[in-house]
Amino acid sequence: MQRSGSPPGDGPPPGVTVRPATLADVDALVAMLVEVAGEGRWIGTEAPVDVDRRRRRMEAEVEGEDAIVLVAEAGGEPVGQLGLHLARYGVADLGMAVAAGWRGRGVGTALLREAISQARKAGAHKLALQVWPHNAAAVALYERFGFRREGYLHRHYRRRSGELWDAIVMGLPLD
Ligand SMILES: CC(C)(COP(=O)(O)OP(=O)(O)OC[C@H]1O[C@@H](n2cnc3c(N)ncnc32)[C@H](O)[C@@H]1OP(=O)(O)O)[C@@H](O)C(=O)NCCC(=O)NCCS
Repeated sequence: MQRSGSPPGDGPPPGVTVRPATLADVDALVAMLVEVAGEGRWIGTEAPVDVDRRRRRMEAEVEGEDAIVLVAEAGGEPVGQLGLHLARYGVADLGMAVAAGWRGRGVGTALLREAISQARKAGAHKLALQVWPHNAAAVALYERFGFRREGYLHRHYRRRSGELWDAIVMGLPLD
């Protein structure tokens, strides 16, 4: 067990590998996003997800130059995913999700470690993200990697319920 606040160590948990996604992964990754969106609490995407649109968008990300999509897999099945959008001005915007049954086992850590390495290789000087304030697991994971809270968006995102949710803006300089 690592001490809270210590930098994350070693490689992925046993049996888990992290690699760039291919077009063959897209259906499974979109299905995972649909599941996580269905939980209703963690990610910006809300149910019902427009699956065709999502699939087209992810295919473009997997094939294009402006994004990096990573997949964590175990036993040949995807158990986590992470997307980086590479802005021309050098910031890589991050989104990620781990399948519910795989959380708390180091998959997110393994994905984030690889994402930081890939973002550096792509020439980004900074990672950026937004997270719901109630998402304690995600905030703790990001802070463990050295992300700092850079801002707070009050009543910023309108949810389909009509609620207005706050968001924390976080950043990790890479230079
Ligand atoms: C946030 C998320 C990606 C973390 O992935 P994960 O595989 O569960 O994370 P890890 O097992 O690698 O945990 C890494 C660290 O995160 C923190 N963490 C993980 N789960 C936690 C929890 N339930 N409560 C508090 N901290 C937690 C801890 O600091 C942990 O380190 P430790 O185990 O050494 O204490 C995952 O919970 C998830 O997919 N949630 C739903 C989607 C989501 O929230 N995406 C991010 C949107 S901004």
